[in-house]
Amino acid sequence: MIGATEAVPSVEDAGAIIIVVANEAGGISRRSLLTSGGIAALGTALAGCAPAEQVPRDPVADAVRPVVPTGEHQAGIARPAAVQPHLLLGVYDLDGGPVGVLARLGDSILALTSGDHPALAGIAPGDLSVTVGVGPRLVQQVVAEGPGTEPLPAFPREDIDERHRGGDLVIQVCASDPLVPPLALAGLLADTSALTERWRQRGARGPSVAVRGDHTAPRNVLGFVDGIAAPISVDERAESVWIGQGAVAGASIMVVRRMEIDLAAFQRLPVEAQESAIGRERASSAPLSGGAIGDDVDLQAKSPDGKYLIPADAHVRRAHPRPAGVPLMLRRSYSMDDPLGLLFVSFQAELRTFTQTMERMSESDALLDFTLTTATGAFLALPGFDAQHPLGSTIFGAA
Ligand code: HEM
Repeated sequence: MIGATEAVPSVEDAGAIIIVVANEAGGISRRSLLTSGGIAALGTALAGCAPAEQVPRDPVADAVRPVVPTGEHQAGIARPAAVQPHLLLGVYDLDGGPVGVLARLGDSILALTSGDHPALAGIAPGDLSVTVGVGPRLVQQVVAEGPGTEPLPAFPREDIDERHRGGDLVIQVCASDPLVPPLALAGLLADTSALTERWRQRGARGPSVAVRGDHTAPRNVLGFVDGIAAPISVDERAESVWIGQGAVAGASIMVVRRMEIDLAAFQRLPVEAQESAIGRERASSAPLSGGAIGDDVDLQAKSPDGKYLIPADAHVRRAHPRPAGVPLMLRRSYSMDDPLGLLFVSFQAELRTFTQTMERMSESDALLDFTLTTATGAFLALPGFDAQHPLGSTIFGAA
């Protein structure tokens, strides 16, 4: 069993082994010892030799915390807490069985995140995370029903080529350095020849704003902060993000949707109408029902003349988990430049959390009118792994 908190010998420098400890919140203790600057400083302190400024530094790697790839859950879902600004996501068909391919992917992830993979061309991985999910066809080979076995149904406002619906494997690669995701994905694909690409998408997130506590969220291409309402505590995530027991314990259902946005049409709306479509103010991100950015929307609040402050078709009302009768999903979306829009990515313990929300949105969601979904899939984001427990082995067995 892979523990939630793990000690992983990670870096050897100046004869010292530095222990990295990953925790649920995504933090890594002893961070300062792990960046190249920290290692340089450690070397200087131990040896009393060249001052740190004479050692070549990598500013990007210095600025970010490494993300431990191992643990009870994969990285790139609930950690790092500070979601990386760059993403590259690919969806693949698999030729043959999954056991060997997943184990090789896991080995490549360990090599890439430790900076020990030729595909990175010597570039520091920084906060690179790689998250792998498998499609329903593969899950059905080991369990007839249950989480991960169902494909996503069709919804209104879709125009999806069959190649862009579903798939056997999703690989989500995120990092602060924009060079790292394409190099890391190229390395993963070079190490696993059995994959044929269906589609890939690049995404980016702008600077994040403080929401509450340590939780932050960025603005999306509409100019609205996206990712405010989120399961944050360990208990909230245990309830709504992680599959707690059974054959796929530790996994999560990952939904991906490439949603093109008619930005010109949305921007033709006066800002007040944009805010009514979302249900939050654009500048402050506060709910239209009052309060501050970190407050939940009050769906009952009315004006003195009896109108809902959060309009009936506002996105936050249609997507709100309470009327949908589901727990809150973990959204980890990225804005897209080509095509312009949002690569919607969410993680939830049950597929119905997404489908029931999407059904309510499809009935009348003012925001949805500006979108067209052109690629989609539901995948089982595999449980965590480490050097002794290959990626996917708890579900598919080991080679
Ligand atoms: C172009 C597509 C979309 C955009 C631009 C978008 C944007 C937003 C924004 C700005 C918010 C308010 C701030 C926040 O709580 O994060 C929000 C909330 C939310 N969205 Fe979306 N969203 C999109 C698609 C979706 C989809 C497809 C789903 C799921 C089916 C979804 C589910 C949610 C949920 C659950 C909330 C929180 C509602 C609450 O509890 O207040 N969104 N979205």
